[in-house]
Amino acid sequence: MIERTPTGIPGLDEMLNGGIPKGYTVLIAGGPGSGKSTFAMQVLANGVSKYGENGVYISLEERATDIIKNFSPFGWDLSKIKIISMIPQKASLAKDVKYLSPEEVSGKAEEKNYLELNPKRFSVDTAKDVIIKEVAKTNAKRLVIDSLAGFSMQINDPFEIRQEILGLSNLLNNLGCTSFLLTEMPEGQKGVSRYGMEEFICQGVIALYNIRKGSERVRGLEILKMRGTKHSQKIVMLEIGPKGVVVYPDEELYRE
Ligand SMILES: Nc1ncnc2c1ncn2[C@@H]1O[C@H](COP(=O)(O)OP(=O)(O)OP(=O)(O)O)[C@@H](O)[C@H]1O
Ligand SMILES: [Mg+2]
Repeated sequence: MIERTPTGIPGLDEMLNGGIPKGYTVLIAGGPGSGKSTFAMQVLANGVSKYGENGVYISLEERATDIIKNFSPFGWDLSKIKIISMIPQKASLAKDVKYLSPEEVSGKAEEKNYLELNPKRFSVDTAKDVIIKEVAKTNAKRLVIDSLAGFSMQINDPFEIRQEILGLSNLLNNLGCTSFLLTEMPEGQKGVSRYGMEEFICQGVIALYNIRKGSERVRGLEILKMRGTKHSQKIVMLEIGPKGVVVYPDEELYRE
C-alpha cells in the first residue's frame, strides 16, 4: 500500500483511489479563472482541518494579504497555513510599496501566518532558503507554488525558464511535501505544457477546465496523469460554491 495525501476536496479522492501519493509534485493546469488557486488553497486548508497536516502557500502573483482577503468568503481557517508572497520589485507597479529584504521581513513577521517578500528578481536560488526554512519551521506536509506563469513574466530566455523549473522541481522533490505546482494553460492549447517540460517533471497532472457550452461556461476536472496509481479517466464536472471546490465524479462533462 502506498501512503497517500487526501485532498479532502469532495469527490476527488475517490477519483484518485484515495488521494495523491505522498511526496508527489502535481501540476495543476488551467486557464484564467479555472479555479487553480482556490483548489490549491482548499487542499492546504483541508490538510490542517481534516488531516493534521500543515501547509505552505507560495504566491508569485498576489500579495499575501490580498490572498487572505480573497479566500475569506469560503470560511477556511488559514491561520495555520503559512502564506508567502514573492513578488519581484519590477513586477510591482504600486508606488508606495516599501521593499524589504527577506531578513527584515522574517524578523518582523515572526508571529504572523504570512510573509510579503519583494525580491529584486525571483529565482529559485534566492527563494529556496525561505521555502526550506518555512517548511521546516511549520513542519509542512503540503506545499503550493502559485504559479509558473510568473516565471515567464520575469525571464525572457526559454532555456533559463526551463532551468528554473528544473531547479524548482528538484527542490520540491527533496522537501518531502506533497506539492502543487500551478500553471496557466491557455484555452484551446493542445497539452498542458507551457514550457514544454512541466508535465514530464511532475508525477501527476490535474487539468481544470472552464469551457463554453452554448451561452454559458461549465467547469471541469480531469486527472491527466498520476504515476503509480489507478485513477479516473473521465472529464467530470467541477463547481465552485460557497464552501469552495466540489467535484462530481459521476457527472461527465461530455456525453455521447
Ligand atoms: N465565493 C465564491 N463562490 C463561488 N465562486 C467563486 C467564489 N469565489 C470565486 N469564485 C469563482 O472562482 C473563480 C476564480 O477562481 P481562482 O482564482 O481559484 O482561479 P485561478 O485559476 O486561480 O485564476 P487565475 O488565472 O486568475 O489565477 C472566479 O472567477 C469565480 O468564478
Ligand atoms: Mg490563481
